[in-house]
Amino acid sequence: MRVLITGGAGYIGSHTCIALLEEGHEIVVFDNLSNSSLVSLERVRQITGKTFPVIVDDVTDRLALDSVFSEHKIDAVMHFAGKKAVGESCVEPLMYYQNNVAGTLILCEAMKAHEISTLIFSSSATVYGDPHSTPITEEFPLSTTNPYGQSKLMVENILRDLMAADNLSGKNFWQLGILRYFNPVGAHSSGLMGEDPQGIPNNLLPYIAQVAVGKLDKLSVFGGDYPTPDGRGIRDYIHVMDLAEGHVKALHFLSMNNVSDCQVWNLGTGNGYSVLEMVKAFEAASQCPVPYEITSRRSGDIAECWADPSKAKRELGWKAGRNLQVMMEDAWRWQSSNPKGYSS
Ligand code: NAD
Ligand code: UFG
Repeated sequence: MRVLITGGAGYIGSHTCIALLEEGHEIVVFDNLSNSSLVSLERVRQITGKTFPVIVDDVTDRLALDSVFSEHKIDAVMHFAGKKAVGESCVEPLMYYQNNVAGTLILCEAMKAHEISTLIFSSSATVYGDPHSTPITEEFPLSTTNPYGQSKLMVENILRDLMAADNLSGKNFWQLGILRYFNPVGAHSSGLMGEDPQGIPNNLLPYIAQVAVGKLDKLSVFGGDYPTPDGRGIRDYIHVMDLAEGHVKALHFLSMNNVSDCQVWNLGTGNGYSVLEMVKAFEAASQCPVPYEITSRRSGDIAECWADPSKAKRELGWKAGRNLQVMMEDAWRWQSSNPKGYSS
């Protein structure tokens, strides 16, 4: 298939480019480079030995999308493009709704006009809010606590409405998949690609990695009094290449099945690790100390979040195969050989 990848220069999108190319698919990348650089795509070419078109433009630009769909025969779209920082979304909600919600609406309108019906959307475990228990299945109630999470839930609801409208009219046009990611970490095993956050990282793993290379002094562990075995927050960290491969499986599923409902899959490992366990695992992989101090809880954080990924296993034949040690080794290989990320 020829797949349009919005946000394809970003962290998860660029790794998914590799997984798709390695499965024999063709790709067209569409990205405004607001949080990425073209170097990631040069690395995709270097690793796969394959070339592909790259369009630098914005998903909110309908004319730009029209011209891509007219010039390239696209079979499906994977929609990664969007803003993802929870804190920033509280300060700039309009920017988040414009990029994440309006961007998706405009993309869907353009797809419909060009009769492209298959879309895979990057959602997040954030749509489960503060879950009543773990592990989290796809049937858990949905709620959000910040504009970023709200934007993901709004898009999910819009996609469900598109399917419902199809069912009402008996048209069966859309084939829609929603992937709810847990916490993506790690990097491609080559050490050529990985996560390259701008400024001070918000997320745990890039923060730990930058402490280990000496770019940052020490990690603040947010909260030591959660009702968890060691008092620290627990998350389901998943290797970015496992996540990428989940997208290929979801694409295969949608192309083989004529679905009449929005398909939703959790992409996680089913294992939860605490912040402290992550620090220890990173120290073991890197042989570098990661100094830390326990500080107060970060506003909006929850104690525990980990997936029941059995639906994806059952329906997609997908299971995360890379363990915590591999996640850490790959993250370290990337960070230590590219201390300044793609600008190294
Ligand atoms: P990223 O910032 O590395 O990648 C997003 C890409 O989209 C970037 O290359 C950016 O330049 C591009 N982009 C942003 N707005 C755009 C627009 N309006 N038009 C065109 N391109 C645009 O982020 P990521 O970690 O790769 O995340 C990809 C997707 O997965 C996002 O939708 C994010 O919300 C979602 N997600 C990420 C995580 C995570 O922890 N990384 C967790 C759950 C869900
Ligand atoms: N943490 C620290 N110190 C830090 C950063 C994080 O102790 O400097 C802790 C957090 O308190 C949390 C854990 O590390 O317990 C993970 O935090 P992240 O910021 O890496 O990830 P979150 O689980 O908060 O959120 C991430 C993405 C969201 C996404 C969610 C999905 O940032 O966008 O995963 O599960 F919605």
